[in-house]
Amino acid sequence: MTDSTQTLPVPEAVGELYDRLTLSAMNDGSFNPNVHIGYWDTPGSEATIEEAMDRLTDVFIERLNAYATSHVLDLGCGVGGPGLRVVARTGARVTGISISEEQIRTANRLAAEAEVADRAVFQHGDAMKLPFADASFDAVMALESICHMPDRQQVFTEVCRVLRPGGRIVLTDIFERHPRKAVRHPGIDKFCRDLMSTTADIDDYVALLHRSGLRLREIVDVTEQTTLRLADEIGRLAAVEERPVAMDEGNFDFGDDSFKPSDLAGVDDFGCLLVTAERP
Ligand SMILES: C[S@@+](CC[C@H](N)C(=O)[O-])C[C@H]1O[C@@H](n2cnc3c(N)ncnc32)[C@H](O)[C@@H]1O
Repeated sequence: MTDSTQTLPVPEAVGELYDRLTLSAMNDGSFNPNVHIGYWDTPGSEATIEEAMDRLTDVFIERLNAYATSHVLDLGCGVGGPGLRVVARTGARVTGISISEEQIRTANRLAAEAEVADRAVFQHGDAMKLPFADASFDAVMALESICHMPDRQQVFTEVCRVLRPGGRIVLTDIFERHPRKAVRHPGIDKFCRDLMSTTADIDDYVALLHRSGLRLREIVDVTEQTTLRLADEIGRLAAVEERPVAMDEGNFDFGDDSFKPSDLAGVDDFGCLLVTAERP
């Protein structure tokens, strides 16, 4: 369940947002096949942002249980980077879905360039109403996409429907860590407003999965490995290289008062969850 005071994202508007971000990244040369945060295993990890982005996909692969015979749904697939990595590393067949037409065009182009268009197919669609038959997937991955969807329970119910019994979903989601501060950090508000997101209710997450027919396997707070570290890395890069950071590093540039990654620097109440659940 999402806190009723939050503004709910509208899927079509989210699609337009990602159309714009995709085109501007291609135009300004900051294009990256991954549109997600990175994962640094340890505080001492020296991985670059790009390496950490791939590492996040690998953290998903370690949990997905996907093999060459598997069919994996990439829910909110972006421009296909994570899906193509799953194909390359597991041999699985991947179907990706995104609400952004531009992302889908780009993802299918990248699949063709990688000569895996027979294993990776990306299509436009809304995760709120999945255009797939019951039990048609062995696994579902949702890297940083659930936060844009207006009703988590509806999404998870749909995911449960399209998963075969025993199939897993692995996802990341954002939430506000406890104990909550009396006043929400303004950076979280800006993030939610400009990136059309809501934060999950951590107290309700397990029940939310159960109500959707899914059984929890693992729920981990990965804030230190992801969002907090990314904000540090971006700050360090901007200082060292004295340059504006690229879109894949979080520069969304919507205008003067718009969200900037530095708005979340050191904000340890903006958390990231890594969740694995399965259809019983
Ligand atoms: C932060 S991007 C993550 C992209 C990709 N998972 C990755 O890691 O590179 C969020 C993705 O969620 C997708 N998305 C958001 N709401 C959606 C919806 N209702 N249906 C389908 N896709 C959606 C967006 O179009 C975008 O591809």
